[in-house]
Amino acid sequence: MQQWLEEIAASARQRLDEGRVADYIPALAQRNPNRFGIAVCTTSGETYAAGDAREPFSIQSIAKVLLLTLALRTHGEALWQRVGLNPSGMPFNSLAQLEAERGKPRNPFINAGAIAVTDRLVSAFATPDKHLQDVARRLAGNASILIDDEVLESEWQHRSRNAAMAYLMKAFGNLDNDVDAVLRCYFSSCALAMSCVDLAVALNFLAAEGEARAIGQRFVSPGLARRVNAIMTTCGMYDAAGDFAYRVGLPAKSGVGGGIVAVVPGRMTVCVWAPALDDSGNSVAAQHALELFAEQLDARLS
Ligand code: DON
Repeated sequence: MQQWLEEIAASARQRLDEGRVADYIPALAQRNPNRFGIAVCTTSGETYAAGDAREPFSIQSIAKVLLLTLALRTHGEALWQRVGLNPSGMPFNSLAQLEAERGKPRNPFINAGAIAVTDRLVSAFATPDKHLQDVARRLAGNASILIDDEVLESEWQHRSRNAAMAYLMKAFGNLDNDVDAVLRCYFSSCALAMSCVDLAVALNFLAAEGEARAIGQRFVSPGLARRVNAIMTTCGMYDAAGDFAYRVGLPAKSGVGGGIVAVVPGRMTVCVWAPALDDSGNSVAAQHALELFAEQLDARLS
């Protein structure tokens, strides 16, 4: 496995100059694009890492997986009254469908959907941002995971578009809490700084039928893990979900920090990080690495 990850890293590094680092969040625009990390965590708890896999980066929309999982744990199926379950076919920050569909976002992985999900968590927890950080730390088995305040403040300063979505949902009665409180919590989840190893370990419950190995406990039911994987397959890569499913064929979630987490159900999680993105907001080199990974998986690990 180790040798194979090194080979994937070498191939993906050739593509680090393709795409562009996200610049609509100024704190991310300053980040070094010349980074590549890949980590695997198997369902028996072994981890493998290559490149910059232990360097924390801004998890951004990968947080939406944690937000959704926690909201399904606290609210169950009632969550689907607030947010839909289908791919949007639109960019992650689009407002276009939200008014036409009366303030109910298409799915929990576009920004509007994650903001609606965060509203449910703000209702459920006294300090939802701290709760989320605590869950990330426990699932990853790493007590030093931090919220990057520079990224949080940068997103807050440049929140107009997300605020527009939140106010529109509030106007339609689909947001119970104060808009600023919900946005702060949403941004602080996106601003969690985690490494590829942290994320592969933390989200391993999705590969392990809901068991979280790092804490030695069941985190969610097998059915809930299966449902989150299903939504990752259909909605995790935004308007590129179909292309990615064809090329890689694994449930996955990307973030504009350049990370992508993918799940091989029953076997392992893999997290790849390379900061430069394509037009859909998905890391170019990380997608390339995952394509190699999926294509060679059975041959290399048999
Ligand atoms: O709200 C935003 O726009 C960012 N905090 C997250 C967007 C993101 O990561 C989209 N993913 N590819």
